[in-house]
Amino acid sequence: MPLVPMRVLLDHAAENGYGVAALNVNDMEQIQAIMAAAVETDSPVIIQASRGARSYSQDAYLRNLMLAAVELHPNIPVAMHLDHGNAPSTCYSAISQGFTSVMMDGSLHEDGKSTSDYAYNVKVTRDVVHVAHALGVSVEGEIGALGGIEDGHGAGLTGEEALKHLADPAQAEQFVKDTNVDALAVAIGTSHGAYKFTKPPTGDVLKMDLIEEIHKRLPNTHLVMHGSSSVPQELREIINKYGGNLKPSWGVPIEQIQRGIKHGVRKINVDTDNRLAITGAIRKVFAETPEKFDPRDYLKPAREAMKKVCVARMTAFGQAGNAGKIKQITCREMISFYLK
Ligand code: G3H
Ligand code: 13P
Ligand code: ZN
Repeated sequence: MPLVPMRVLLDHAAENGYGVAALNVNDMEQIQAIMAAAVETDSPVIIQASRGARSYSQDAYLRNLMLAAVELHPNIPVAMHLDHGNAPSTCYSAISQGFTSVMMDGSLHEDGKSTSDYAYNVKVTRDVVHVAHALGVSVEGEIGALGGIEDGHGAGLTGEEALKHLADPAQAEQFVKDTNVDALAVAIGTSHGAYKFTKPPTGDVLKMDLIEEIHKRLPNTHLVMHGSSSVPQELREIINKYGGNLKPSWGVPIEQIQRGIKHGVRKINVDTDNRLAITGAIRKVFAETPEKFDPRDYLKPAREAMKKVCVARMTAFGQAGNAGKIKQITCREMISFYLK
């Protein structure tokens, strides 16, 4: 089967009350890990590539690896999504390379660092929606700017400044009216990477109540949580046991994500947890068997470790058991839906 637009997966998730992990990839082993987890759990999947991933692996490799994934596993619906597109041109190049879904992150300017204003965000997002929907491709936008209230990751925001960039529910509602996005990422205090919170997050730093408020205003919009790795202590400990040096930190607890799923969260972005699992597995092989030098000796355990994380997330988010229930639709078939 061909790759499907993300909208198909999110609509099914909304109709059946579950969430879908959006998992970042850069190489073949990561794609294989996700597909193996999807097959084991019968899960639909969103596989996403950032700008960094696209430049690391090159679109032609990525596209063909993704096509291999659906060729080998025709029963698993797979959407190929651009993560954090920084400009309409980035989204258009992704679409031309076969991505079936794009994120236009107009919460930041094209530099991917400085926060933009509402008018700019609407303009670039609306432009992308216009083109993407005409081709049956789904679009995710973002409101508020992702940052860490505690540490200023993401948009580089700190303290009071970061609090000002949380998603505003009234603005979120207006944004969806103004742009017609399929999915909306909402800044609720998470940040990318392994250092999100210095202690288990409470409601003053992880604003799950914002999700609930936004969902009440936008019951038909698929909400997206970025920076949603849980940063499990055991994965950090494996890395540190075998020569790594990661400071203690906390991520987004799975129960909080499940709470979000009850209130309209349909796409949950997870990258860091898989990176931690891969790195720990590779370090273990290097430390325990320093005589090994065949990449397969460490890439296989790395792939297995990532698969374990993916199985756990697919199960916790409720997407497990749903792959076979989804009618697979192509982007071409999706065009008529958008034209309605
Ligand atoms: O957006 C954050 C994802 O974890 C991708 O990270 O930009 O280093 O590929 P990246
Ligand atoms: P994590 O760094 O928490 O895995 O977040 C990934 C993400 O949001 C990708 O867009
Ligand atoms: Zn993100």
